[in-house]
Amino acid sequence: MQKPIVVGVVGCGYWGPNLVRNFTGLPNCNLRAMCDLNEARLKHMRGLYPNVEGVTDFGHLLNGVGLDAVVVAAPVKHHFPLAKAALLAGKHTLIEKPMAASSAECEELIEIAESKGLVLMVGHTFLYSAAVRKIAEIVQAGDIGEIRYINSRRLNLGLFQKDINVAWDLAPHDISIILHILEEFPLAVNCQGNAHVTPGIEDVTNISLSFRHKRFATIQSSWLEPRKVREMTIAGTRRMIVYDDLETHEKIRIYDTRVERPPHHDTFAEFHYSYHYGDIYIPYIKQEEPLKAECQHFIDCIEKGTKPLTSGHKGLELVRILEAASTSLKENGAPVTLTRSREVTQLGPRSTLSMQPAFA
Ligand SMILES: NC(=O)c1ccc[n+]([C@@H]2O[C@H](COP(=O)([O-])OP(=O)(O)OC[C@H]3O[C@@H](n4cnc5c(N)ncnc54)[C@H](O)[C@@H]3O)[C@@H](O)[C@H]2O)c1
Repeated sequence: MQKPIVVGVVGCGYWGPNLVRNFTGLPNCNLRAMCDLNEARLKHMRGLYPNVEGVTDFGHLLNGVGLDAVVVAAPVKHHFPLAKAALLAGKHTLIEKPMAASSAECEELIEIAESKGLVLMVGHTFLYSAAVRKIAEIVQAGDIGEIRYINSRRLNLGLFQKDINVAWDLAPHDISIILHILEEFPLAVNCQGNAHVTPGIEDVTNISLSFRHKRFATIQSSWLEPRKVREMTIAGTRRMIVYDDLETHEKIRIYDTRVERPPHHDTFAEFHYSYHYGDIYIPYIKQEEPLKAECQHFIDCIEKGTKPLTSGHKGLELVRILEAASTSLKENGAPVTLTRSREVTQLGPRSTLSMQPAFA
């Protein structure tokens, strides 16, 4: 049997404990240490995981406990310094989404990881969900025809962040899913929004992404919604998918619904759009925690020396889109064209997950 991969998690606030719980449960992993600047958080975590060391000093986490890998779950502004130090110390690194606060930071992290031959992965958690993988499978099989547009809504009340706006906080989930489904990088980004509660930090944003062949996606993100909404519509020329992540069993519905324009008509009386209403199909989706699949994938990539599905390059792509959205926001929604740089436009063949299929 291979030696377990020794992992440490930095940042034990809201999300870090979920990572700690999942890494603790993996068979080929030894979650050895947790790090947080906040002593009270550490004490709480030590109460839950008495066998895992708790440290406030990140330097000690890197050099004093014998780690192979570090997981960064601190606020976004800390991602770059923490991940850079981890990579320079020779640790494989998983960074929570979004990868960093700027594309320049992402590029530097990718360079260090590549020069040292280390795994650099980003926590685009939804790409590890069985529902999103099923959607990608349906789209790739051509079952819904050509995608016309995608509309995504991720809304709830709070949690208000201090260092990033709602687009940087919530939209990474939608953007990562959309890029994965379309297998394409957008040509342009528009974003409008407003800061209603904290000055300078938008709590409601609308992003639109324009792709080739007039395809586009809209993403609505909000911390000012009384209901929690996690919905995405993928409208194809033959069928449409509605994905509701809040549904426990029936997350995906495939509507055999379409609308067609008659190819030819002579009079207005003859002119009718043709609406097709067919069956609604609900595929079986195995219940599985996406974060567990993500953590397992990180360990597998380290063991096998393979590139993660959500690599540093994928993290960079996403941050470039968020940066463009921030620029557009300042210009009241004006389109920001994305230049076709090597890393971001050649999405390349999709990496595959080396894990158990999540659905039958
Ligand atoms: N993948 C997902 O679905 C998902 C969900 C929620 C949050 N996140 C991401 O997780 C990250 C953390 O978010 P959160 O909501 O848990 O934040 P949080 O503010 O609740 O917790 C962050 C913790 O990091 C600690 N910290 C800050 N700087 C540190 C440092 N230099 N060294 C050690 N500890 C430090 C803080 O004391 C705090 O306990 C963010 O990047 C966020 O975007 C991802």
